[in-house]
Amino acid sequence: MTHPPRSGVGEDRLERYLALRARSQHLARDLSAEDQLAQSMPDASPTKWHLAHTTWFFETFLLTPHLPGYRVFDERFGYLFNSYYEALGPRQPRPQRGLLTRPSLERVMAYRAHVDEAMTRLLLSGAEDFADLLDLGIAHEEQHQELILMDILHLFAQSPLRPAYGRASPTPPVEPAGELTFVGFAGGLVEIGHGGGRFAFDNEGPRHKVYLAPFSLADRLITNGEWLRFIEDGGYERAELWLSDGWACVQAEGWAAPLYWEPGPEGWRVMGLQGLRPMDPDAPVAHLSYFEADAYATWAGARLPTEAEWEHAAGQIPVQGVFLSRATPAPTAARGERGALRQLYGDLWEWTRSAYGPYPGFAPASGAVGEYNGKFMSGQMVLRGGACVTPPGHVRATYRNFFHPHQRWMFSGLRLARDGAAPAPRRSAFEADVLSGLSRKQKSVPPKYFYDAPGSALFEEICELPEYYPTRTELALLRQVAPEMASHVPAGAALVEFGSGASLKTRQLLDHAPQIAVYTPIDISPTALDAAVASLRADYPNLALAPLVEDFTTALDLPAAAQERPTFGFFPGSTIGNLLPEEAVEFLANARHLLGDGARFLVGADLVKGEDVLVAAYDDAQGVTGAFNLNLLARMNRELAADFDLRNFTHRAVWNQALSRVEMHLVSRCDQSVQVAGRRFDFTLGETIHTENSHKFTPEGLEGLASRAGWRLEARWISEAPAFGLFLLAA
Ligand code: AVI
Repeated sequence: MTHPPRSGVGEDRLERYLALRARSQHLARDLSAEDQLAQSMPDASPTKWHLAHTTWFFETFLLTPHLPGYRVFDERFGYLFNSYYEALGPRQPRPQRGLLTRPSLERVMAYRAHVDEAMTRLLLSGAEDFADLLDLGIAHEEQHQELILMDILHLFAQSPLRPAYGRASPTPPVEPAGELTFVGFAGGLVEIGHGGGRFAFDNEGPRHKVYLAPFSLADRLITNGEWLRFIEDGGYERAELWLSDGWACVQAEGWAAPLYWEPGPEGWRVMGLQGLRPMDPDAPVAHLSYFEADAYATWAGARLPTEAEWEHAAGQIPVQGVFLSRATPAPTAARGERGALRQLYGDLWEWTRSAYGPYPGFAPASGAVGEYNGKFMSGQMVLRGGACVTPPGHVRATYRNFFHPHQRWMFSGLRLARDGAAPAPRRSAFEADVLSGLSRKQKSVPPKYFYDAPGSALFEEICELPEYYPTRTELALLRQVAPEMASHVPAGAALVEFGSGASLKTRQLLDHAPQIAVYTPIDISPTALDAAVASLRADYPNLALAPLVEDFTTALDLPAAAQERPTFGFFPGSTIGNLLPEEAVEFLANARHLLGDGARFLVGADLVKGEDVLVAAYDDAQGVTGAFNLNLLARMNRELAADFDLRNFTHRAVWNQALSRVEMHLVSRCDQSVQVAGRRFDFTLGETIHTENSHKFTPEGLEGLASRAGWRLEARWISEAPAFGLFLLAA
């Protein structure tokens, strides 16, 4: 290629142009000719077609009108590579672009070289009247660079081999995404839209005023892990969460997860440009339709942002992100300071709830190029930001991307928004657990929340009931075996009790094993703990007391007084039965870690027996267990500004034979709505809140759980009927 003398501006333009063209070819470098011809669906195009179409764009809009004497490479290419310009005549139907086996890839590359040579002459000619069109041609090819990757991913996801595109770059180490927080904006009368100056697409202007009510935006995108909870809560099965057209799509397409999620033997896997990989719970969830994003927002008690809100918030932040520069791009977990807006650019396009339409005063350019954006302003929704497959320098805060609400193959994700600028007050664990539990299909509240002061007092009453045999039976068994048990307690031991309550059974151990030097009771209820400590202090003056107010299921550190001592763990009362089997294994493993090597662990577990005995124990004649169950609603009323009418719920205890557990429920006696922490929950007549499981074990079943957690059985004692077991485990 021979160049005429270069002007400074022309040289810069040429450099930009050639870098652009080289990047397109670079993207195709590892693709075979077959990869580049294939078309996996009507919305996608072959790579070869993208390479030719972007070339046709420069030829048609720049070279033919602006380079005197330009010779069109091949007259027939106008039909083959025109995308959608009606003013330029008929064209190959989009769904049939994959049939274009001719021209060959080689000839398409010759076409590119021919146009590049002519563009070089044009750019260095000193002419100026095409500058805007050059910017448009460059931005246009950048859009197709992103499309090449979207389309290749879709193609590769159809292949049974699930090939990776290019070379996988090492995944950077990431921090966990962390809890979602919201950033507030006062709103008011603000301006949005592109105001001129540097290049922007016509649809980004004119700049104009909009009024924004106060709003908040989530500080990061929704993650795969969060999306999994939506799935597990029946998100794809609950019509009430979906827009009508979205629900029709769910059913017609059989959607049950985002586009590239696949179930695997060890959980979900996600197909990406790096091939099929285990789902990363901290990475943002990608390849969502608008309908899915909207359903998730509804499920989460939030909404999607409007495009004006997004632009107003993002306009105050520089464009930063990892754009299409890595070997194999993928969205990654949120980085940067929590509580500030993150992931605005460079991971995923973000769905907004704004329909794609013209801004006030918008007028498309005249001529065929006016078809670029304006004619698509119907039936599509706006996405903002920019993705990991978006070329660097391509996006800005005013940029309006748009897709149909059912489409999923683009790199789309979601950020939640809410009305009101006040940052959401930090939720207590109780509030968060209740809100998420009541949002499930089977409403539930974890049983650990029974034990506020009135609940703990009611539980002590339960333990005295004639029907509630476990406490009595376990205590009698302990009395009987305590002398023998004491021989298993090492000298100077720290006794660590999980969920200690009133510490009544503990006294059996303390009385028979004076070698216990320190006692660490762990309980979530400070009132129960205070009372127990006060009474023990009086009765055991030589015992060091080092209590912990904690949820005993969470990871713990022993207090200093209990450290550096042999440990003897104690977990009586069959509280292990209130955990699901997997949770029980996790708890036992955590306890193993906490108590350390050489530890002993005495676990009390209620054993399987007749249904009548079991149900009566959880549904006593005096109604104490019912009051204990209903106290959970009273506690929500007290602590979470809830308005449960306790007369509208009844206590129920049932034996679930298949899962070997007594279940407690609160049954709604009518159709009703209840407010909890500012959210409304609807109940139908007979619907229940599942409040507790009490698993009943066989000795072998309990020993199996213990051995999965790294314990071995050292001894066991089983009572006369009603059967209750004490299991001494060794680390
Ligand atoms: C604390 N926990 C072992 C008791 C149980 O039997 O599951 C709680 C309880 N619930 C109703 N009655 C007692």
